[in-house]
Amino acid sequence: MDWNATLYEERHGFVAEYGKGLLEFVPVDPRQAILDLGCGTGTLTSELAARAGTVLGLDASPEMVTAARARFPDIDFITGDALELSFENRFDTVFSNAVFHWLPDHDRLLKNIRRALKPGGRLVCEFGAKGNVAAVENAFARACEERGLRYESRFTFPEPEAFARQLAENRFTCELVVAYARPTVLQNGESGLRHWLRQFFAAELRPLPESAQEALTSRVEELARPSLWNGKAWVADYRRLRAVAHS
Ligand SMILES: C[S@@+](CC[C@H](N)C(=O)[O-])C[C@H]1O[C@@H](n2cnc3c(N)ncnc32)[C@H](O)[C@@H]1O
Repeated sequence: MDWNATLYEERHGFVAEYGKGLLEFVPVDPRQAILDLGCGTGTLTSELAARAGTVLGLDASPEMVTAARARFPDIDFITGDALELSFENRFDTVFSNAVFHWLPDHDRLLKNIRRALKPGGRLVCEFGAKGNVAAVENAFARACEERGLRYESRFTFPEPEAFARQLAENRFTCELVVAYARPTVLQNGESGLRHWLRQFFAAELRPLPESAQEALTSRVEELARPSLWNGKAWVADYRRLRAVAHS
């Protein structure tokens, strides 16, 4: 999918803000090398840099990497696909926030990460768990259906038990694998949900004419309002999976 780095930075800064809670699982060690997988515009990569000797931010989106380099010129950022990593025995920690649910093949991903880690290295990650943004997705699917459009979710949101199993199958030792509800207030009041849809359902919306995009997002708002509008803001029904595991 295409990522709009400016929109992401301006309106979805909460993604990295929430991800800061994950940093407590990354020890401060000036000898360690860290890979920030799916680094986006680099907010968390810069926090990781303060905990490590070296840090590398990798992201599939050239636009995100350009924005990250402009914000943090002293940090290394490269364009790359998490499903095509070629690193071997290189990092003490692989860190990743809000990325794995965009990737269809977690088995392949974990094999790549294991290969990239030094023996005894650590994976620290958080992403969408089963049920994440279910109310938003259901409203979107129904609005599409009403217009004769087919919506097929592109997300991979596993249950923690299934992800723990995949980690074990790839010879990781799990320290922590949990799911938790994290209701998330979307910025920009009444416009919050439509901004969120424009960023995260960009692949579905962009092929449609502007008027159709407008009608679809308005209908999603109508359908989601009873469960997600609290009178002042949209509160998306996020459910996250957090994992810490060793290779
Ligand atoms: C929601 S953003 C999270 C960015 C950052 N980790 C943060 O916490 O702000 C998801 C990021 O995953 C990246 N991404 C999606 N698929 C990817 C892939 N196959 N390989 C590497 N990065 C990917 C996107 O380009 C995007 O920057």
